Amino acid sequence: MKNKIAKQFAAHFGGEGVFYASAGRINLIGEHTDYNGGFVFPGAIDKGMMACIRLNGTDKVRAYSVDLEDYTEFGMEEADAPRASWARYIFGVCREIIKRGHQIKGFDTAFAGDVPLGAGMSSSAALESTFAFALNDMLSLGIDKFELARIGQSTEHNYCGVKCGIMDQFASLFGKAGHLVRLDCRSMEYKYYPFNPDGYRLVLLDTLVKHELASSAYNKRRESCERVAEILCVSTLRDADMDMLESVRKRISEEDFMRAEYVIGEKQRVLDVCDALELGDYKTVGERMYQTHEGMSRLYEVSCPELDFLNDIARKCGVTGSRVMGGGFGGCTINLVKEELYDNFITTAKASFLEKYGHEPKVYDVNISDGAHKVC
Ligand code: GLA
Repeated sequence: MKNKIAKQFAAHFGGEGVFYASAGRINLIGEHTDYNGGFVFPGAIDKGMMACIRLNGTDKVRAYSVDLEDYTEFGMEEADAPRASWARYIFGVCREIIKRGHQIKGFDTAFAGDVPLGAGMSSSAALESTFAFALNDMLSLGIDKFELARIGQSTEHNYCGVKCGIMDQFASLFGKAGHLVRLDCRSMEYKYYPFNPDGYRLVLLDTLVKHELASSAYNKRRESCERVAEILCVSTLRDADMDMLESVRKRISEEDFMRAEYVIGEKQRVLDVCDALELGDYKTVGERMYQTHEGMSRLYEVSCPELDFLNDIARKCGVTGSRVMGGGFGGCTINLVKEELYDNFITTAKASFLEKYGHEPKVYDVNISDGAHKVC
C-alpha cells in the first residue's frame, strides 16, 4: 500500500512526503454503549488507512484519494467545506483542530486504505485518526491522544452527520498489538487485556449489506437513549438499571423501553466478558456475544436478515460466540470459533449464504494490531 500511495503522491504533487497510518477496529462486545457512558471492548486491526503528507506552504489542502481516484482542494474556513464525502473527513479534522485554538498549515496528501468500507470496521475513524495524528505530529501541536480521538468524533458529528460515540476513534488511536482495550466511556479510564485465545480464532463474516439510512437510524437510537435518560434524571443510561426503567415504563414509548433495556443489559455483558477472559472462560464470552446479538436484533433493532442468518449458522455450527459487530444495519458478524470447527463453519456459512442471498459473505481473519503511528 505504501508504494502505491508514494507513486500517486509523486504523480500528483512531485517528490515525497511523510507516511502515517491508523487502524480500523473490531469490538469484542459493548455495542451502542459508548454514547451511553458505558463500556466498550475494542481492538485495532491490521487493516486501516495510510496517508503520505507534506506541508505545501499555502493555506490550502490538496488531497488525492488513491482508492476512489478522486482529487480535491479546499481551504480551511468553514465556507470551504468540500463536496466529496471522503474529503469532509479530512476537512472536518482540520476544522476541529482549528476550533481548539491551533493553526493548521496547508498540505498535500495522497491516501489509501484496506479497511472494507461500510463493513462496520470503522474506516472513517481510521481516516480521521490518521490525519489528526499526522497533523498533530507534523505541526508539533501537542494535542493528547484523547483529544485527537475527540477531534475525530466531532468531525463525525459536525461534518458527516453521525452522532457517534468515542469507541472507534479511541480504538484507532490507542490500539495495541495483541491486546483488546476496555474503555469506560464515562471516565475514559482504559485497560489493556492480552488477547490470544488459545485454540480459538476470531473471524469476521461480512454480509456486504450496506444500509443507506444507517446514519439517521443510528442517530435515532441515540435520541431514544437520551430521552429515557432524561426521564430517569440520569445523565446517561450508564446510571440506569432495569428497576428504574420498569418504573417509567408507562411514561415512555415501547420502542424507547426496548432500546434502553438493551443498553442496560449490554453494559453488564462487557464486564462479564472481561472477567471471563481473565479466567480463560471462553464459553461465557461466547454466551454473552450471542446475547448481545439477540439484544441488537430484537430490542435495539440494528440487525438485518442477512446478519441474523449468519448468526443462526454460527449457532448451528457450534461456534462459541457470534454477533453483529459495530453500529449494525449491515456489515459483519464477529465470531469466536474453536480451531477445529473453523473450516466447517466457513464452508457452511459461505455455501448457505450463497444459496439464500446469491453471493458469499466475505471472510476476514482478525489480527489485533497497533493503532495510529508514523510509518518509517
Ligand atoms: C459506530 C459508532 C461507535 C459505536 C458503534 C456501536 O461504530 O461510530 O461510536 O456507537 O457504532 O457500538
